[in-house]
Amino acid sequence: MVARRDMTLVGLISLAAAILCVRFDLSEKLMAWAHLHERLQVDELPAVLLVFTTCLIWFSTRRYVEARRQLALRTLTDMRLADALAENQRLAQQYLDMQESERKALARDLHDELGQYLNVIKLDAVSIRDAPPQDHVQISSAARGMIENVDRLYGVVASLIRQLRPVGFDALGVAAALEHCVREWRARLVGVTMSLSIDADLSELDEVRALVLFRLIQEALTNVARHARAGRVDIRIVKRHDSSGGDIIQVSVADDGVGTTIGARRAGLGLVGMRERVAAFGGSLALTSRPGEGFKIVAAVPIMGLPQKAGDP
Ligand SMILES: Nc1ncnc2c1ncn2[C@@H]1O[C@H](COP(=O)(O)OP(=O)(O)OP(=O)(O)O)[C@@H](O)[C@H]1O
Ligand SMILES: [Mg+2]
Repeated sequence: MVARRDMTLVGLISLAAAILCVRFDLSEKLMAWAHLHERLQVDELPAVLLVFTTCLIWFSTRRYVEARRQLALRTLTDMRLADALAENQRLAQQYLDMQESERKALARDLHDELGQYLNVIKLDAVSIRDAPPQDHVQISSAARGMIENVDRLYGVVASLIRQLRPVGFDALGVAAALEHCVREWRARLVGVTMSLSIDADLSELDEVRALVLFRLIQEALTNVARHARAGRVDIRIVKRHDSSGGDIIQVSVADDGVGTTIGARRAGLGLVGMRERVAAFGGSLALTSRPGEGFKIVAAVPIMGLPQKAGDP
């Protein structure tokens, strides 16, 4: 619309110029005047102006093409941004759903398991209270029942605690918690050879970083169990100097399973969560995999920097 109006304007101005030129014989007058100043070569001016005008046309066409390219690029970036925002929203929603279902499962466990045992323990306690003092058989059987149920209760509480906090993490440190975690996975994934090598002093890490490390390996091993169909998994933790001169802890988890195509759109939260946890410390996460060629995660977490609040990240 604007282009058509501008073109009409160009046509009208050119027509007006043509009428004026014809009406006042402008070219002849210009030539006669230029002839008078032949010394200054003024008569060459029209040719120079023609070349200059052609160059200006070339210049503006190039700018126009460039502007269109930039515009297309911007539209594409806007679309990608909108996609990323939508994906972000979807993941946030999924995360909230997951949190909600974890809470529901916890509430169900507390209700079904703890509630049931506490009830039975109470009944045994009541029967001890109400039993005639000389009825040793009833008293001792109720007491035995109470002891058994307290043991079971302890088992339930321990397993709930395990879900919420890595075993041994608080008392023995992250290295022991990792060894325990790997031992448990070995018992669960029979037929998978699993190695853990720690070539770094993990006690240097603060609690939040140590938990990041633990959760990362825990998720990587969960993924191996769920997706890899691997025969071998190698977990390596080493300390390195990074290019900026600081120290980093580098964790790699590599399996020889079925692999996948990196970059394909994923529904899961595990890898996204890993990336976010590592990025919160200025670290990086790299994934390498191809169908049939296993899966490898390499994460680098700086030992110092970016102050974090305590708690499970
Ligand atoms: N070790 C692996 N071997 C093969 N494929 C894997 C491996 N780890 C991850 N993947 C692929 O990457 C995808 C994304 O993993 P991610 O952990 O983000 O999600 P998920 O495990 O599917 O779900 P969740 O949100 O419960 O973790 C998986 O669905 C799987 O296709
Ligand atoms: Mg996962």
